[in-house]
Amino acid sequence: MATAILGMQWGDEGKGKITHLLARKASVVVRYSGGPNAGHTVIDRGVKFGTHQVPAGAFYPGTRCVLASGMVIDLAVLREEYETISAHLDNEIDLVISENAHLILPYHRTLEELEGSGAAIGTTRRGIGPAYRDKAARIGIRAGDLLNPTRLREKLAYRVTLLQRLWPASEETAALSAAGLADGLLDAGRPFLSSIGDTAGMIRDALSSASTTGEEVLFEGAQGALLDIDFGTYPCVTSSATTFAGLGQAIGIPNPCVERRIGVVKAYTTRVGRGSFPTEITGGIGARLQEKGGEFGVTTGRSRRCGWLDLVALKHAARLNGPTDLAITKLDVLSGLPEIEICVAYRLRGERIVHFPLADEDLALCQPIYETLVGWEEGIEGVRKYSDLPQEAHKYLERIAAELGAPIGLVSIGPAPEETIAIG
Ligand code: GDP
Ligand code: IMO
Ligand code: MG
Repeated sequence: MATAILGMQWGDEGKGKITHLLARKASVVVRYSGGPNAGHTVIDRGVKFGTHQVPAGAFYPGTRCVLASGMVIDLAVLREEYETISAHLDNEIDLVISENAHLILPYHRTLEELEGSGAAIGTTRRGIGPAYRDKAARIGIRAGDLLNPTRLREKLAYRVTLLQRLWPASEETAALSAAGLADGLLDAGRPFLSSIGDTAGMIRDALSSASTTGEEVLFEGAQGALLDIDFGTYPCVTSSATTFAGLGQAIGIPNPCVERRIGVVKAYTTRVGRGSFPTEITGGIGARLQEKGGEFGVTTGRSRRCGWLDLVALKHAARLNGPTDLAITKLDVLSGLPEIEICVAYRLRGERIVHFPLADEDLALCQPIYETLVGWEEGIEGVRKYSDLPQEAHKYLERIAAELGAPIGLVSIGPAPEETIAIG
Protein backbone atom coordinates (compact mmCIF):
# COMPACT_ATOMS: atom_id res chain seq x y z
CA MET A 1 0.00 0.00 0.00
CA ALA A 2 1.29 3.48 -0.83
CA THR A 3 0.24 6.59 1.09
CA ALA A 4 0.92 10.28 0.45
CA ILE A 5 0.78 12.86 3.24
CA LEU A 6 -0.21 16.20 1.76
CA GLY A 7 -0.48 19.71 3.18
CA MET A 8 -3.84 21.33 2.45
CA GLN A 9 -3.11 24.91 3.58
CA TRP A 10 -0.04 27.16 3.64
CA GLY A 11 2.22 24.53 5.22
CA ASP A 12 2.84 23.57 8.86
CA GLU A 13 -0.35 21.52 9.05
CA GLY A 14 1.34 18.76 11.07
CA LYS A 15 2.61 16.59 8.19
CA GLY A 16 5.69 15.63 10.21
CA LYS A 17 3.68 14.21 13.08
CA ILE A 18 1.40 12.24 10.75
CA THR A 19 4.30 10.91 8.64
CA HIS A 20 6.23 9.81 11.72
CA LEU A 21 3.13 8.08 13.08
CA LEU A 22 2.43 6.17 9.87
CA ALA A 23 6.09 5.39 9.12
CA ARG A 24 6.19 2.88 11.95
CA LYS A 25 5.01 0.26 9.48
CA ALA A 26 6.67 1.65 6.35
CA SER A 27 9.61 0.10 4.54
CA VAL A 28 10.29 3.22 2.45
CA VAL A 29 9.62 6.91 3.15
CA VAL A 30 10.16 9.44 0.36
CA ARG A 31 10.60 13.22 0.48
CA TYR A 32 10.03 14.39 -3.07
CA SER A 33 9.84 18.17 -3.23
CA GLY A 34 11.15 21.33 -1.61
CA GLY A 35 14.25 21.36 0.55
CA PRO A 36 15.29 22.81 3.89
CA ASN A 37 12.49 25.37 3.69
CA ALA A 38 10.37 22.56 5.18
CA GLY A 39 10.36 22.16 8.95
CA HIS A 40 8.50 19.07 10.11
CA THR A 41 8.14 18.46 13.82
CA VAL A 42 8.46 14.93 15.12
CA ILE A 43 8.31 13.72 18.69
CA ASP A 44 10.14 10.43 18.81
CA ARG A 45 10.17 8.60 22.14
CA GLY A 46 9.72 11.89 23.95
CA VAL A 47 12.45 13.79 22.06
CA LYS A 48 11.42 16.65 19.76
CA PHE A 49 13.04 17.08 16.34
CA GLY A 50 12.54 19.55 13.50
CA THR A 51 13.32 17.69 10.28
CA HIS A 52 14.14 19.68 7.17
CA GLN A 53 15.28 17.23 4.53
CA VAL A 54 15.53 13.82 6.14
CA PRO A 55 12.04 12.31 5.92
CA ALA A 56 10.08 12.44 9.16
CA GLY A 57 9.77 8.67 8.78
CA ALA A 58 13.48 8.15 9.41
CA PHE A 59 13.04 7.25 13.05
CA TYR A 60 12.57 3.51 12.64
CA PRO A 61 15.59 1.28 12.01
CA GLY A 62 15.20 -0.55 8.74
CA THR A 63 13.14 2.15 7.06
CA ARG A 64 14.74 3.31 3.83
CA CYS A 65 14.65 7.09 3.40
CA VAL A 66 14.67 8.49 -0.10
CA LEU A 67 15.34 12.07 -1.21
CA ALA A 68 13.82 12.08 -4.70
CA SER A 69 14.55 14.10 -7.85
CA GLY A 70 12.06 16.89 -7.17
CA MET A 71 13.99 18.11 -4.13
CA VAL A 72 16.66 20.77 -3.82
CA ILE A 73 19.16 19.60 -1.22
CA ASP A 74 21.47 21.55 1.06
CA LEU A 75 24.15 19.01 1.90
CA ALA A 76 25.50 20.88 4.94
CA VAL A 77 22.01 20.98 6.49
CA LEU A 78 21.44 17.35 5.52
CA ARG A 79 24.70 16.24 7.10
CA GLU A 80 23.83 17.89 10.40
CA GLU A 81 20.34 16.40 10.44
CA TYR A 82 21.63 12.99 9.44
CA GLU A 83 24.16 12.97 12.27
CA THR A 84 21.70 14.20 14.91
CA ILE A 85 19.01 11.68 14.03
CA SER A 86 21.49 8.80 13.58
CA ALA A 87 22.92 9.55 17.06
CA HIS A 88 19.40 9.52 18.52
CA LEU A 89 18.66 6.19 16.84
CA ASP A 90 22.09 4.82 17.67
CA ASN A 91 22.01 3.59 14.12
CA GLU A 92 22.86 5.20 10.78
CA ILE A 93 19.84 6.26 8.77
CA ASP A 94 19.45 4.35 5.52
CA LEU A 95 19.40 7.36 3.20
CA VAL A 96 19.34 7.35 -0.59
CA ILE A 97 19.65 10.47 -2.74
CA SER A 98 18.49 10.91 -6.31
CA GLU A 99 21.31 11.64 -8.73
CA ASN A 100 18.95 14.15 -10.41
CA ALA A 101 18.19 16.15 -7.27
CA HIS A 102 19.64 19.63 -7.43
CA LEU A 103 21.95 20.98 -4.77
CA ILE A 104 21.63 24.25 -2.91
CA LEU A 105 24.95 26.10 -2.86
CA PRO A 106 25.98 28.94 -0.57
CA TYR A 107 25.54 31.40 -3.47
CA HIS A 108 21.84 30.58 -3.69
CA ARG A 109 21.32 32.09 -0.25
CA THR A 110 23.49 35.05 -1.25
CA LEU A 111 21.36 35.59 -4.36
CA GLU A 112 18.17 35.59 -2.30
CA GLU A 113 19.60 38.46 -0.25
CA LEU A 114 21.07 40.37 -3.21
CA GLU A 115 17.79 40.20 -5.14
CA GLY A 116 15.62 40.95 -2.13
CA SER A 117 13.17 38.06 -2.70
CA GLY A 118 13.69 36.95 0.89
CA ALA A 119 12.21 40.20 2.12
CA ALA A 120 9.64 40.70 -0.67
CA ILE A 121 8.01 37.29 -0.29
CA GLY A 122 9.13 36.49 3.22
CA THR A 123 10.89 33.32 2.12
CA THR A 124 12.69 31.02 4.51
CA ARG A 125 15.99 32.37 3.09
CA ARG A 126 17.29 28.88 2.44
CA GLY A 127 18.17 29.55 -1.22
CA ILE A 128 15.16 27.61 -2.51
CA GLY A 129 14.03 29.99 -5.28
CA PRO A 130 17.51 30.55 -6.76
CA ALA A 131 18.27 26.79 -6.66
CA TYR A 132 15.07 25.87 -8.54
CA ARG A 133 15.74 28.73 -10.93
CA ASP A 134 19.22 27.36 -11.72
CA LYS A 135 17.61 23.99 -12.38
CA ALA A 136 15.17 25.54 -14.88
CA ALA A 137 17.96 27.62 -16.42
CA ARG A 138 20.05 24.44 -16.82
CA ILE A 139 22.96 25.77 -14.83
CA GLY A 140 22.30 23.80 -11.65
CA ILE A 141 24.59 21.36 -9.85
CA ARG A 142 23.06 17.95 -9.21
CA ALA A 143 23.79 15.31 -6.60
CA GLY A 144 25.12 13.05 -9.37
CA ASP A 145 27.83 15.63 -10.14
CA LEU A 146 29.47 14.78 -6.81
CA LEU A 147 30.44 11.42 -8.27
CA ASN A 148 32.68 13.11 -10.83
CA PRO A 149 34.74 15.79 -9.03
CA THR A 150 36.41 17.02 -12.22
CA ARG A 151 33.05 17.62 -13.87
CA LEU A 152 31.77 19.17 -10.64
CA ARG A 153 34.64 21.71 -10.59
CA GLU A 154 34.11 22.58 -14.25
CA LYS A 155 30.41 23.20 -13.76
CA LEU A 156 31.05 25.30 -10.67
CA ALA A 157 33.72 27.34 -12.46
CA TYR A 158 31.20 28.17 -15.21
CA ARG A 159 28.51 29.02 -12.64
CA VAL A 160 30.85 31.25 -10.64
CA THR A 161 31.89 33.13 -13.80
CA LEU A 162 28.25 33.82 -14.62
CA LEU A 163 27.56 35.03 -11.10
CA GLN A 164 30.55 37.36 -11.08
CA ARG A 165 29.53 38.76 -14.46
CA LEU A 166 25.98 39.42 -13.27
CA TRP A 167 26.94 40.87 -9.89
CA PRO A 168 30.26 42.67 -10.55
CA ALA A 169 29.95 44.89 -7.50
CA SER A 170 29.17 42.14 -5.01
CA GLU A 171 31.87 41.24 -2.51
CA GLU A 172 30.17 37.90 -1.86
CA THR A 173 30.29 36.77 -5.49
CA ALA A 174 33.84 38.12 -5.91
CA ALA A 175 34.95 35.90 -3.04
CA LEU A 176 33.52 32.71 -4.59
CA SER A 177 35.95 30.03 -5.71
CA ALA A 178 34.83 26.98 -7.68
CA ALA A 179 37.45 24.82 -5.99
CA GLY A 180 36.35 25.94 -2.53
CA LEU A 181 32.69 25.30 -3.35
CA ALA A 182 33.47 21.85 -4.74
CA ASP A 183 35.51 20.93 -1.67
CA GLY A 184 32.67 22.11 0.58
CA LEU A 185 30.13 19.94 -1.26
CA LEU A 186 32.36 16.87 -1.33
CA ASP A 187 33.15 17.24 2.34
CA ALA A 188 29.54 17.70 3.49
CA GLY A 189 28.34 14.96 1.14
CA ARG A 190 30.99 12.37 2.08
CA PRO A 191 28.66 10.01 4.04
CA PHE A 192 26.18 10.03 1.15
CA LEU A 193 28.45 9.56 -1.87
CA SER A 194 27.81 5.82 -2.11
CA SER A 195 24.06 6.39 -1.74
CA ILE A 196 23.52 8.65 -4.75
CA GLY A 197 21.72 6.91 -7.58
CA ASP A 198 18.55 6.14 -9.47
CA THR A 199 15.79 6.65 -6.95
CA ALA A 200 13.04 6.41 -9.58
CA GLY A 201 13.90 2.75 -10.15
CA MET A 202 14.05 2.11 -6.43
CA ILE A 203 10.66 3.74 -5.80
CA ARG A 204 9.15 1.87 -8.75
CA ASP A 205 10.34 -1.44 -7.25
CA ALA A 206 9.05 -0.48 -3.79
CA LEU A 207 5.64 0.46 -5.21
CA SER A 208 5.41 -2.74 -7.13
CA SER A 209 6.23 -4.89 -4.10
CA ALA A 210 3.90 -2.75 -1.95
CA SER A 211 1.00 -3.63 -4.22
CA THR A 212 1.63 -7.36 -3.82
CA THR A 213 3.15 -7.88 -0.36
CA GLY A 214 1.34 -5.35 1.76
CA GLU A 215 4.57 -3.43 2.34
CA GLU A 216 4.05 0.29 3.10
CA VAL A 217 5.55 3.11 1.04
CA LEU A 218 5.05 6.67 2.30
CA PHE A 219 5.39 9.91 0.37
CA GLU A 220 5.93 12.85 2.69
CA GLY A 221 4.67 16.07 1.14
CA ALA A 222 6.35 19.36 1.97
CA GLN A 223 4.75 22.80 2.20
CA GLY A 224 1.03 22.98 1.38
CA ALA A 225 -1.24 23.23 -1.65
CA LEU A 226 -1.64 27.02 -1.32
CA LEU A 227 2.15 27.45 -1.65
CA ASP A 228 2.24 25.55 -4.97
CA ILE A 229 4.24 27.33 -7.67
CA ASP A 230 1.41 27.02 -10.22
CA PHE A 231 -1.81 26.77 -8.23
CA GLY A 232 -0.92 28.60 -5.03
CA THR A 233 -1.21 32.27 -4.15
CA TYR A 234 1.39 33.42 -6.69
CA PRO A 235 3.81 35.17 -6.26
CA CYS A 236 3.76 34.47 -2.50
CA VAL A 237 4.47 30.78 -2.99
CA THR A 238 7.44 28.46 -2.92
CA SER A 239 9.29 27.43 -6.10
CA SER A 240 8.12 23.84 -6.50
CA ALA A 241 4.98 21.78 -7.01
CA THR A 242 3.59 21.00 -3.57
CA THR A 243 0.47 19.00 -4.42
CA PHE A 244 -0.26 15.41 -5.29
CA ALA A 245 -0.42 16.51 -8.92
CA GLY A 246 3.35 17.15 -8.77
CA LEU A 247 4.30 13.83 -7.19
CA GLY A 248 4.67 11.73 -10.37
CA GLN A 249 7.02 14.24 -11.98
CA ALA A 250 9.03 14.66 -8.78
CA ILE A 251 9.73 10.93 -8.43
CA GLY A 252 9.93 10.09 -12.13
CA ILE A 253 6.99 7.70 -12.23
CA PRO A 254 3.97 8.38 -14.41
CA ASN A 255 0.68 8.15 -12.53
CA PRO A 256 2.07 6.42 -9.43
CA CYS A 257 -0.40 4.12 -7.73
CA VAL A 258 -0.88 5.83 -4.35
CA GLU A 259 -4.03 4.31 -2.88
CA ARG A 260 -4.22 6.55 0.18
CA ARG A 261 -3.81 10.31 -0.06
CA ILE A 262 -4.12 11.94 3.34
CA GLY A 263 -5.00 15.61 3.21
CA VAL A 264 -3.56 17.14 6.38
CA VAL A 265 -5.74 20.03 7.57
CA LYS A 266 -4.95 22.14 10.61
CA ALA A 267 -8.22 22.87 12.47
CA TYR A 268 -7.59 26.57 11.87
CA THR A 269 -5.32 28.35 9.38
CA THR A 270 -1.76 29.64 9.64
CA ARG A 271 0.60 31.31 7.21
CA VAL A 272 4.25 32.38 7.51
CA GLY A 273 5.77 35.07 5.37
CA ARG A 274 3.95 37.53 3.18
CA GLY A 275 0.80 37.05 1.14
CA SER A 276 -2.96 37.38 1.36
CA PHE A 277 -4.81 35.56 4.08
CA PRO A 278 -8.55 36.37 4.09
CA THR A 279 -9.38 34.68 7.40
CA GLU A 280 -6.42 36.09 9.34
CA ILE A 281 -7.27 37.35 12.82
CA THR A 282 -4.92 40.04 14.04
CA GLY A 283 -4.77 40.24 17.82
CA GLY A 284 -7.43 38.74 20.13
CA ILE A 285 -8.27 35.18 19.15
CA GLY A 286 -5.46 35.16 16.56
CA ALA A 287 -2.91 35.81 19.30
CA ARG A 288 -4.55 33.15 21.45
CA LEU A 289 -4.30 30.55 18.65
CA GLN A 290 -0.67 31.51 18.10
CA GLU A 291 0.19 31.08 21.75
CA LYS A 292 -1.85 27.96 22.46
CA GLY A 293 -0.85 26.34 19.16
CA GLY A 294 2.83 27.27 19.58
CA GLU A 295 2.71 28.77 16.11
CA PHE A 296 6.36 29.60 15.54
CA GLY A 297 8.31 28.41 12.48
CA VAL A 298 10.45 25.28 12.83
CA THR A 299 12.90 26.53 10.18
CA THR A 300 13.05 30.25 10.88
CA GLY A 301 11.44 30.76 14.31
CA ARG A 302 9.14 33.39 12.78
CA SER A 303 5.70 33.74 14.33
CA ARG A 304 2.96 32.32 12.17
CA ARG A 305 -0.05 34.43 11.29
CA CYS A 306 -3.25 32.74 12.53
CA GLY A 307 -6.90 32.75 11.47
CA TRP A 308 -10.10 30.74 11.09
CA LEU A 309 -10.55 27.70 8.89
CA ASP A 310 -11.15 28.63 5.25
CA LEU A 311 -13.37 26.19 3.34
CA VAL A 312 -13.00 28.09 0.05
CA ALA A 313 -9.23 27.62 0.15
CA LEU A 314 -9.53 24.03 1.40
CA LYS A 315 -11.85 23.02 -1.44
CA HIS A 316 -9.26 24.40 -3.87
CA ALA A 317 -6.58 22.34 -2.11
CA ALA A 318 -8.81 19.24 -2.23
CA ARG A 319 -9.14 19.59 -6.00
CA LEU A 320 -5.33 19.68 -6.28
CA ASN A 321 -4.55 16.88 -3.85
CA GLY A 322 -7.53 14.55 -4.35
CA PRO A 323 -7.47 13.30 -0.74
CA THR A 324 -8.99 9.91 -0.03
CA ASP A 325 -9.21 10.91 3.64
CA LEU A 326 -8.31 13.75 5.96
CA ALA A 327 -6.13 14.13 9.03
CA ILE A 328 -7.41 17.05 11.11
CA THR A 329 -4.66 18.35 13.39
CA LYS A 330 -4.49 20.68 16.38
CA LEU A 331 -8.18 20.35 17.23
CA ASP A 332 -7.16 20.72 20.89
CA VAL A 333 -6.07 24.31 20.20
CA LEU A 334 -9.71 25.30 19.56
CA SER A 335 -10.94 24.07 22.97
CA GLY A 336 -12.32 26.79 25.21
CA LEU A 337 -13.65 29.04 22.44
CA PRO A 338 -17.37 29.75 22.89
CA GLU A 339 -17.82 30.18 19.12
CA ILE A 340 -15.81 29.06 16.11
CA GLU A 341 -16.04 30.82 12.76
CA ILE A 342 -15.70 28.92 9.51
CA CYS A 343 -15.28 30.73 6.19
CA VAL A 344 -17.76 29.46 3.59
CA ALA A 345 -17.41 32.07 0.82
CA TYR A 346 -15.70 35.37 0.00
CA ARG A 347 -17.05 38.77 -0.95
CA LEU A 348 -15.03 40.16 -3.86
CA ARG A 349 -15.93 43.57 -5.34
CA GLY A 350 -19.44 43.32 -3.82
CA GLU A 351 -20.12 39.81 -5.13
CA ARG A 352 -20.29 36.55 -3.16
CA ILE A 353 -17.84 34.04 -4.65
CA VAL A 354 -17.02 30.47 -3.73
CA HIS A 355 -14.00 29.94 -5.99
CA PHE A 356 -10.46 30.60 -4.80
CA PRO A 357 -8.76 33.44 -6.75
CA LEU A 358 -5.31 32.32 -7.84
CA ALA A 359 -3.65 35.74 -7.91
CA ASP A 360 -2.51 36.88 -4.52
CA GLU A 361 -3.54 40.43 -5.45
CA ASP A 362 -7.19 39.32 -5.97
CA LEU A 363 -7.20 37.24 -2.82
CA ALA A 364 -6.11 40.38 -0.96
CA LEU A 365 -9.44 42.01 -1.90
CA CYS A 366 -11.56 39.09 -0.62
CA GLN A 367 -13.56 39.51 2.56
CA PRO A 368 -14.43 36.26 4.34
CA ILE A 369 -18.09 35.30 4.79
CA TYR A 370 -18.39 33.25 7.96
CA GLU A 371 -20.79 30.81 9.52
CA THR A 372 -20.62 30.53 13.27
CA LEU A 373 -20.46 27.16 14.99
CA VAL A 374 -20.75 26.55 18.72
CA GLY A 375 -17.43 25.70 20.37
CA TRP A 376 -16.61 23.37 23.27
CA GLU A 377 -15.27 24.28 26.67
CA GLU A 378 -13.40 21.18 27.83
CA GLY A 379 -9.81 20.18 27.01
CA ILE A 380 -9.64 17.18 24.67
CA GLU A 381 -5.93 16.22 24.84
CA GLY A 382 -6.73 13.06 26.78
CA VAL A 383 -9.44 11.80 24.41
CA ARG A 384 -8.52 8.63 22.50
CA LYS A 385 -11.91 7.63 21.04
CA TYR A 386 -13.82 9.64 18.48
CA SER A 387 -17.07 9.09 20.33
CA ASP A 388 -15.56 10.73 23.45
CA LEU A 389 -15.01 14.06 21.69
CA PRO A 390 -17.58 16.75 22.55
CA GLN A 391 -20.64 16.88 20.28
CA GLU A 392 -19.67 20.35 19.09
CA ALA A 393 -16.29 18.99 17.94
CA HIS A 394 -18.11 16.22 16.04
CA LYS A 395 -20.19 18.85 14.29
CA TYR A 396 -17.10 20.86 13.36
CA LEU A 397 -15.27 17.81 12.00
CA GLU A 398 -18.28 16.45 10.16
CA ARG A 399 -18.83 19.79 8.51
CA ILE A 400 -15.24 19.84 7.19
CA ALA A 401 -15.52 16.28 5.87
CA ALA A 402 -18.84 16.99 4.16
CA GLU A 403 -17.56 20.18 2.51
CA LEU A 404 -14.35 18.56 1.27
CA GLY A 405 -16.05 15.33 0.21
CA ALA A 406 -13.54 13.11 2.05
CA PRO A 407 -13.89 11.21 5.32
CA ILE A 408 -11.74 11.93 8.35
CA GLY A 409 -9.26 9.15 9.07
CA LEU A 410 -7.22 10.78 11.85
CA VAL A 411 -7.80 13.50 14.41
CA SER A 412 -4.75 14.90 16.17
CA ILE A 413 -5.25 16.42 19.60
CA GLY A 414 -1.68 17.04 20.69
CA PRO A 415 1.88 16.99 19.28
CA ALA A 416 2.86 13.52 20.56
CA PRO A 417 2.15 10.44 18.45
CA GLU A 418 -0.17 8.93 21.06
CA GLU A 419 -2.30 12.08 21.03
CA THR A 420 -4.10 10.87 17.95
CA ILE A 421 -7.52 9.37 17.28
CA ALA A 422 -7.74 6.94 14.36
CA ILE A 423 -11.21 6.58 12.86
CA GLY A 424 -12.42 3.49 11.05
P1 GDP B 1 4.55 20.40 9.26
O1 GDP B 1 5.49 21.35 8.62
O2 GDP B 1 3.29 20.21 8.48
O3 GDP B 1 5.18 19.09 9.61
O4 GDP B 1 4.11 21.08 10.65
P2 GDP B 1 5.08 21.79 11.71
O5 GDP B 1 5.83 20.75 12.43
O6 GDP B 1 5.84 22.87 11.04
O7 GDP B 1 4.04 22.51 12.65
C1 GDP B 1 3.11 21.79 13.39
C2 GDP B 1 3.29 22.13 14.87
O8 GDP B 1 2.15 21.69 15.60
C3 GDP B 1 4.46 21.42 15.52
O9 GDP B 1 4.95 22.21 16.57
C4 GDP B 1 3.83 20.14 16.07
O10 GDP B 1 4.55 19.59 17.16
C5 GDP B 1 2.50 20.67 16.52
N1 GDP B 1 1.37 19.72 16.44
C6 GDP B 1 1.12 18.76 15.51
N2 GDP B 1 -0.08 18.21 15.74
C7 GDP B 1 -0.59 18.81 16.84
C8 GDP B 1 -1.83 18.70 17.54
O11 GDP B 1 -2.72 17.95 17.20
N3 GDP B 1 -2.01 19.54 18.61
C9 GDP B 1 -1.07 20.42 19.02
N4 GDP B 1 -1.34 21.20 20.07
N5 GDP B 1 0.12 20.56 18.38
C10 GDP B 1 0.34 19.77 17.29
P1 IMO C 1 6.49 22.87 5.73
O1 IMO C 1 6.91 21.67 4.89
C1 IMO C 1 5.26 27.02 5.88
C2 IMO C 1 6.74 29.65 2.71
C3 IMO C 1 7.69 30.74 3.21
C4 IMO C 1 7.36 31.83 2.19
C5 IMO C 1 7.16 31.04 0.90
C6 IMO C 1 8.41 30.97 0.00
O2 IMO C 1 7.14 22.95 7.04
O3 IMO C 1 5.01 22.96 5.76
P2 IMO C 1 10.70 29.63 0.21
O4 IMO C 1 11.74 29.65 1.25
O5 IMO C 1 10.10 28.28 -0.03
O6 IMO C 1 11.13 30.27 -1.08
O7 IMO C 1 9.52 30.60 0.79
O8 IMO C 1 6.80 29.74 1.30
N1 IMO C 1 7.14 28.28 3.10
C7 IMO C 1 6.57 27.59 4.10
N2 IMO C 1 5.63 27.97 4.99
N3 IMO C 1 5.74 25.77 5.90
C8 IMO C 1 6.66 25.37 4.99
O9 IMO C 1 7.08 24.10 4.89
C9 IMO C 1 7.15 26.32 4.06
N4 IMO C 1 8.06 26.28 3.07
C10 IMO C 1 8.04 27.48 2.48
O10 IMO C 1 7.38 31.12 4.52
O11 IMO C 1 6.15 32.45 2.52
MG1 MG D 1 6.54 23.07 9.03
